[in-house]
Amino acid sequence: MAQTWTPNSWRQKPISQVPDYPDLTALSATEAQLATYPPLVFAGEARRLKSQLANVAAGQGFLLQGGDCAESFAEHGADTIRDFFRAFLQMAVVLTFGAQQPVVKVGRIAGQFAKPRSSNIERQGDVELPSYRGDIINGIDFNEKARIPDPERQIMAYRQSAATLNLLRAFAMGGYANLDNVHQWMLGFVKDSPQAERYRKLADRISETMDFMKAIGITPESNPNLRETDFFTSHEALLLGYEQALTRVDSTSGDWYATSGHMIWIGDRTRQPDHAHIEYCRGIKNPLGLKCGPSLTGDGLLELIDLLNPQNEAGRLTLICRFGHDKVAEHLPRLIRAVEKEGRKVVWSCDPMHGNTITLNHYKTRPFERILSEVESFFQIHRAEGTHPGGIHIEMTGNDVTECTGGARALSGADLGDRYHTHCDPRLNADQALELAFLLAERMKGGRDEKRMVANG
Ligand code: TRP
Ligand code: MN
Repeated sequence: MAQTWTPNSWRQKPISQVPDYPDLTALSATEAQLATYPPLVFAGEARRLKSQLANVAAGQGFLLQGGDCAESFAEHGADTIRDFFRAFLQMAVVLTFGAQQPVVKVGRIAGQFAKPRSSNIERQGDVELPSYRGDIINGIDFNEKARIPDPERQIMAYRQSAATLNLLRAFAMGGYANLDNVHQWMLGFVKDSPQAERYRKLADRISETMDFMKAIGITPESNPNLRETDFFTSHEALLLGYEQALTRVDSTSGDWYATSGHMIWIGDRTRQPDHAHIEYCRGIKNPLGLKCGPSLTGDGLLELIDLLNPQNEAGRLTLICRFGHDKVAEHLPRLIRAVEKEGRKVVWSCDPMHGNTITLNHYKTRPFERILSEVESFFQIHRAEGTHPGGIHIEMTGNDVTECTGGARALSGADLGDRYHTHCDPRLNADQALELAFLLAERMKGGRDEKRMVANG
């Protein structure tokens, strides 16, 4: 594919998962309007993320990527964003302190609005309507009017993303993420949470370390590293008209960047090499994610890597593997071997959510044990292959929802109805997310000790 790339060259390619907009003139007008709006992120930030991911690809560090399956217009309160960020920071601090590795922090947030669907039609009883495709496209209510794709929603999604990002930047840089606050991040915790005690112990040790450092003159005031954190945004680049409108030339490098988020990924349903989504993504310089499911062959993966990362640049490409707890052992090793054989530099990340979805009592859910089991296998397989288990990609919220079963508080199928709020797939609640972080930290530490023992003979 030596053909020239432009921000709209994807329009010449076959495409799947496109909404059926009834008014194409209105759609073009909206896209033209978006193209005049300011970028949400800067190219320099995307490059900074890429260099952090390059370290992960080289075995130094861990990628923590997570957030809602789908953001919604209805749930856009400051508390929701803060609770998410707090849960995310807790996970990050557990991983950093527990595993003693830098953690690259990427939210599925401030742009995660468009959803690929397995069917164009949703049926309830005798009624058939177009499927819900995410708040950036149509409404979730089951009525004809709500389900009509409305371009105006793209403007709303852009504005919500800008407001969300603004608050996240304030939290990350303005004091909330200061390590002196490590105990405060616990305040929102459910009282009887089994993770609370574990977290408090870890926070005590961090506070003690901070006090020691202060005694020798290293303070958050004098040292931004203790006071601030780099927090990046990401979403699936599904709605390409929206992405194109926010694609801009970076004046310092002359390169094209997607400015809708720092990192964007390509879904398992839209990764055909000659189709529109790959075409769009190959031309922008942001770090990219590629979802890898059971149907991806080793050769298919190498073809995609050639298209998306022809220069073999470390940090450019993260492979987000989502096989299912019972399939990961069958599929992950062959992909790792294909990539290793050709010496391709990638970040290997594990999405333990999407291959483990079941239906229970009419709810879409995910058993926490299966999520943990896929993560465990992911680590074991990488240890066996001698590659770096570089990251995790999860659907989570900072709230006390009941969407995934299991975990230390043993949510059952009967509990799902209590607080099932997701607009799409079931998410880990704050408690389950933290439990997962503790498990990850242990596994990462285990791998490090193993390496040290080998090095010391
Ligand atoms: N700046 C460092 C980092 O982001 C340390 C740090 C500051 C941190 N605040 C944090 C780590 C909150 C995790 C969570 O890694
Ligand atoms: Mn999902």
